[in-house]
Amino acid sequence: MNNNDSNFNRQNRNTQNPSYQQQSSNRPQQSGNRPQQGGSRPQQGGSRPQQSGARPPQKGKPPKKKVRFHPNKDGIMAIIALLLGVILVITIIVCVVKAISDAVSSDKPTTESYITTSDTLDSSTTTESTTTAFVTTAPQAGAWNEGYVLQNYSNTKVGEGDLVLVNYEYEYSFPSSMEKKIISMYGQTGHGTSYVLGSNIKLNTTIVPSLVKMLDDMKEANADTLSNGDKLLISSGHRTLEYQQELYDKAVASGTEGYSAKAGYSEHHTGLALDLKIYTSKGATIDLRANEQDWLTSNCANYGFIIRYPSEKTDITQILEESWHFRYIGVPHAQYITENGLCLEEYIELLREEHTYGKAEPLKYTSGDNEYIIYFVPANEAESSTAVPVPASGKYTVSGNNADGFIVTVTK
Ligand code: DAL
Ligand code: ZN
Repeated sequence: MNNNDSNFNRQNRNTQNPSYQQQSSNRPQQSGNRPQQGGSRPQQGGSRPQQSGARPPQKGKPPKKKVRFHPNKDGIMAIIALLLGVILVITIIVCVVKAISDAVSSDKPTTESYITTSDTLDSSTTTESTTTAFVTTAPQAGAWNEGYVLQNYSNTKVGEGDLVLVNYEYEYSFPSSMEKKIISMYGQTGHGTSYVLGSNIKLNTTIVPSLVKMLDDMKEANADTLSNGDKLLISSGHRTLEYQQELYDKAVASGTEGYSAKAGYSEHHTGLALDLKIYTSKGATIDLRANEQDWLTSNCANYGFIIRYPSEKTDITQILEESWHFRYIGVPHAQYITENGLCLEEYIELLREEHTYGKAEPLKYTSGDNEYIIYFVPANEAESSTAVPVPASGKYTVSGNNADGFIVTVTK
């Protein structure tokens, strides 16, 4: 009902109020000589003489007394009781209507609980800013994502993070945020003890603690082959575009290009990948031996690494088996991939196809005491940035997939 309807009904109701009618019927009409409104219209009950101030009073009849309402104390109490009763009834009606309305709206997705924020990929802190339209269904009460907020990421960040897929199809964009994390492994903790270097090897700083821990533990677990002067060798790490071009040209010249990515399409560019070999006490560089390889195959995921080019996935990776090439992607992802026999290409596609936020449930994965929630958020191609749902507080990371969106990893 609109306001006009409401006013209209209120006026009509008032004309039906008995006390109002009584007063008006007995009150002398103002400006009695003035034609009545709509005077040309016949009066209802037109045979009845018009009540007009110009008409002389009728003889023999005493003038009508004004009827005044003078309630006694009991009457006043009764009126107050009546008013209180009316107020009570109205209050009950309002409460019932509100309860019904709340029950209905709690079933509907709302966007009110979303706060859009802008931040960088690595930060887990959020700052409030303006809300924006977001197509994804907002969380419902009690849902796994209750209390999540939206954080804006520039679409250029699709090419950044631990989970970037770099292969024959997806070229690396050398984002400055990744490039500036590249550090030399020379002189780092563990250099000379946990590992040696073939040259000035560089890696992305974010993977160094996990890598050194893995190599330390590997050395301890494989004391029979690594305690006699043989050392773990990081034989390759971060590569520039020019260096990869050089390596690719050599591979083509020697007919081994099946083991080499083209310049721009190697994940060595990211600093998240490395090659591991053994540098023997006699000064020879050799492949990992069976016990060392087995230990890495069984354990590298617990440090966040995968063997990136397994023999059974060459048709997908387009790279021949490389048991020496390890790629860091983070613990839950590496463990899930290893347990389920996937390669990185398949994992990225699984998240896109089966765990897209707002379309499907996230991937829930438990490892030890840690519970992870992992989901994919497609880049918003209509805009230059994407609103990514993340927890309002707590631990999480957001990584681009270097293809078409972002992968959020929440640690519960
Ligand atoms: N050997 C790996 C595939 C590379 O060239 O990046
Ligand atoms: Zn490699």
